[in-house]
Amino acid sequence: NYPSQVRIIDVGPRDGLQNEKQPVPAAVKVELVQRLQDAGLKEIEVTSFVSPKWVPQMADNAEVMAGIERRADVRYSVLTPNLKGFEAAVATRPDEIVVFGAASEAFSQKNINCSIAESIERFAPVVEAALAAGIAVRGAMSCTVGCPYEGDIAPQQVAYLAGLMKGIGVQRVDVADTIGVGTPLAVRRAIEAALTHYDIDHVSGHFHDTYGQALSNTLAAVSMGVWNFQSSVSGLGGCPYAKGATGNVATEDVVFMLNGMGIDTGIALDKLIDAGQFISEHLGRPNGSRVARAVLAK
Ligand code: HMG
Ligand code: MG
Repeated sequence: NYPSQVRIIDVGPRDGLQNEKQPVPAAVKVELVQRLQDAGLKEIEVTSFVSPKWVPQMADNAEVMAGIERRADVRYSVLTPNLKGFEAAVATRPDEIVVFGAASEAFSQKNINCSIAESIERFAPVVEAALAAGIAVRGAMSCTVGCPYEGDIAPQQVAYLAGLMKGIGVQRVDVADTIGVGTPLAVRRAIEAALTHYDIDHVSGHFHDTYGQALSNTLAAVSMGVWNFQSSVSGLGGCPYAKGATGNVATEDVVFMLNGMGIDTGIALDKLIDAGQFISEHLGRPNGSRVARAVLAK
């Protein structure tokens, strides 16, 4: 029962670049977004409206949003942790905002400086304002399998957070393995927990590849019928509050796997590889996609 189509949100410009030590100019981020949409991405997570003291790389959020050439058939999303972030974001006309909570109390504290319950209190007015303005709302759920501070996370924690997200009107949720420790059955249990509050069309998979498990986890999710995923072009990234965690699974690698399975993504792999090379060369580092490296070595 594999889905016939998969929708990928490339989170490279946000999740990918938020943790870069070297400053990445806004113009480079804008060009990356441009290249991703040229490759056929229909959803792009562009930036975040968070405190520049916490995440300096995203301080150019408004400049990047103003610089991109919008396409009517592409959905541009941004992270907003609170009303202050939402108000700054709304001026840049995002199609979707993302509130981001954690299934782990300790990670919630480290990442957004409040408990899970407090985070929901902060998100509630953001969700309400977004929906009233006709902006879609997604909820990222971090550490759904493991936490850098608490270790293993029980599926009940994921169900708890998903229920809270549902309660405040979040339309769809991401099951994120922030530190990439998940393996297929653990990821399956986390997704099942999310499915106690959301249907299969409103649950997505967000897998980091720290332990090399992200494609296996993607396959596990696809085999459950999940058809929405987040990944980063050339495997960019990591989270500043999850030390040592690597980037998301590379979008190129996900597309290659799905192509091989006959599952349509609408993405042109060659153009996607070009986009990944563009940003890898800019950062001065090897391309993080195995597929891109293999194709380019031919
Ligand atoms: P706080 O310090 O508790 O906030 O931070 P505060 O309300 O006390 O405000 C403190 C200062 O921040 C004030 O400025 C505010 O104005 C300012 P000051 O008076 O000191 O000059 N401030 C803001 N500035 C800009 N935009 C805002 C904003 N809010 C307050 N929105 C806060 C709380 C949430 C702001 C902070 O903890 C923060 O910015 N955290 C962001 C963390 C982050 O971006 N993490 C990475 C994204 S999550 C992730 O990567 C995981 C994900 O990919 C899924 C996965 O893989 O798991 C999504
Ligand atoms: Mg992430």
